[in-house]
Amino acid sequence: MDFRHQITTPGALAGVSVDALVLVVIGDALDPSLDPALSGPLADAIEHGDLKLKKGKALYLHRPNGVRAARVAVAVAEDALPKSLKAAAAQAIGLVKGGGARHLGLAIVGAAAMGAAEAEALVACAGDAVYTYRHTKPSAAPAPSLKVVTVFCGKADAKAVQQGVRQGQAIAAGVALAREYANRPANHCTPSVLAAQAKKLGKDFDLKVDVLDRKAVEKLGMGSFLAVAQGSDEPLRFIVARYDGAPKGRAPVVLVGKGITFDTGGISIKPAADMDEMKFDMGGAASVLGALRAIAELKPALNLVCLIPACENMPSGRAVKPGDVVTSLSGQTIEILNTDAEGRLILCDALTYAERFKPAVVVDVATLTGACVIALGHHHSGLFTADDRVAQQMLDASRAALDPCWRMPLDEEYDEALKSNFADMGNVGGRAGGAITAAMFLRRFTAKYPWAHLDIAGTAWRSGAAKGSTGRPVGLLTHFVLAQAG
Ligand code: BES
Ligand code: MN
Ligand code: ZN
Repeated sequence: MDFRHQITTPGALAGVSVDALVLVVIGDALDPSLDPALSGPLADAIEHGDLKLKKGKALYLHRPNGVRAARVAVAVAEDALPKSLKAAAAQAIGLVKGGGARHLGLAIVGAAAMGAAEAEALVACAGDAVYTYRHTKPSAAPAPSLKVVTVFCGKADAKAVQQGVRQGQAIAAGVALAREYANRPANHCTPSVLAAQAKKLGKDFDLKVDVLDRKAVEKLGMGSFLAVAQGSDEPLRFIVARYDGAPKGRAPVVLVGKGITFDTGGISIKPAADMDEMKFDMGGAASVLGALRAIAELKPALNLVCLIPACENMPSGRAVKPGDVVTSLSGQTIEILNTDAEGRLILCDALTYAERFKPAVVVDVATLTGACVIALGHHHSGLFTADDRVAQQMLDASRAALDPCWRMPLDEEYDEALKSNFADMGNVGGRAGGAITAAMFLRRFTAKYPWAHLDIAGTAWRSGAAKGSTGRPVGLLTHFVLAQAG
């Protein structure tokens, strides 16, 4: 998909050369400067009760007189905040995307000005709307015919809008990548497939990508990661991908993504209901690859390292058993009391591996706990960090990306729950505060650098009729990484 911007006044929108025109209308009165060919039928619809200038209302017009675009969709936004614009644009794009339009135009009517944030929100929303999963369902309605999206803006705003469109396009492509790989079932998205995708990204964007196999991981001494992987016949992979946009000496940002391509729970096996959803348990890894793609396209002046431990969590005669004690790469021993708390077991070794890069900051991303879903639901990702500066940067990035997260506690007191009589720690801390004790476990491996953990168990995918990956938190991660360049 190709995203552009074009300078146009509201009075000239009827003449723009697109197949489908999406207008986001702000406020409770029509902008008097809007082209009469558009404001005429809209005023008529309002008069006859077919459109209300109220949040959530939308209208489709086919071949309105005097308008060059064959399709016009209008949606009303509550106010001019990017979040409101995005919601309205999503609704209006939904009215035209299934049709034959190839070139979509987006405009805001009734706002003072369009800036980078507004343009980015519109573009991200168009990107989200056109993604269709077809990998194992080629019979699905063919992908929308949309190929080009143009954002219309005023002359004074052109530079900011261009910047926003560029950033939105890069994030949209990253989100689409994350959604695609998270959506693929575990027999189509194995650790090896993830590694091959990382290699392909490396080729396309000139990145350094190394893939470690079991032998290499054994040699390193990642006893905790190996313990999770040992129950599966599917070979593990440890992916190391680097984007170098700054001189070598510059401390990198490190992103770590949980890459469990299927989580049965292992010997502590999960119930059958909804177990299929555990194919999304590599959503952290997918979002890290998506953010890497966005960064590689935007080329900021910084260094980025992405680490992905990838394997399946399976029961078998070779699987790790409750009570087994393993030695992590850090040297700390772990009593694996519950084999279903496997995410932290693969992440801890990756977090220790991260030390070798002398990172400026490390962020890990994981569909880590059901407890986080209970705590925060499906809107906010859980943010855990002991570092107030990093917390503020993450919260700022999440606001800018419209990809919300909420800071959770990480006080020493919660560490108590991880005590074990047989190892330096247990891998679970009981039901109470389950998302926090999981984060406390990870914290024990992050003493050497500033660190934050994102629990995306509630935000990485949707259940029910719209079952599928959301591509979150690619936007948040991309914004966070970009902010490290300044
Ligand atoms: N991948 C799951 C977490 C999860 C559960 C994500 C439900 C989304 C929806 C993780 O590996 C897991 O099984 N966590 C356990 C931890 C427990 C055994 C301490 C959980 O949350 O039940
Ligand atoms: Mn699990
Ligand atoms: Zn898991």
